[in-house]
Amino acid sequence: MINGNIFWLYFVIRRRFYLLPCTHCRTEDEIAKEVAVDIATLRDPEADADRAQKPEYLVIIGVCTHLGCVPIANAGDFGGYYCPCHGSHYDCSGRIRKGPAPLNLEVPVYEFPEENLLVVG
Ligand code: FES
Repeated sequence: MINGNIFWLYFVIRRRFYLLPCTHCRTEDEIAKEVAVDIATLRDPEADADRAQKPEYLVIIGVCTHLGCVPIANAGDFGGYYCPCHGSHYDCSGRIRKGPAPLNLEVPVYEFPEENLLVVG
């Protein structure tokens, strides 16, 4: 927990993504699907490439942008995250696709200073 926010950190092991404490995979097919989304159709338009510095890593703050519940990974109509509190569906890039949440799941400031090192904040 950093600055009161729960961070879901994905890291790659043989091109598989794991979410702590939940496990999630962002496969090459999922990445391709998110890259192909027409951002003009999105409520909060953001390209996948603008949300993930490396497509195989997705770093987001696990707090629903509606009223702050914690969404469930690998769930919802778009296979990303589902917030059961009021029914917000996010895709595998953490972008809001359906439900009352107004914005995408937040991407925190982060960097990869070295090949195997991720620094958040
Ligand atoms: S808090 Fe997530 S949908 Fe309302």
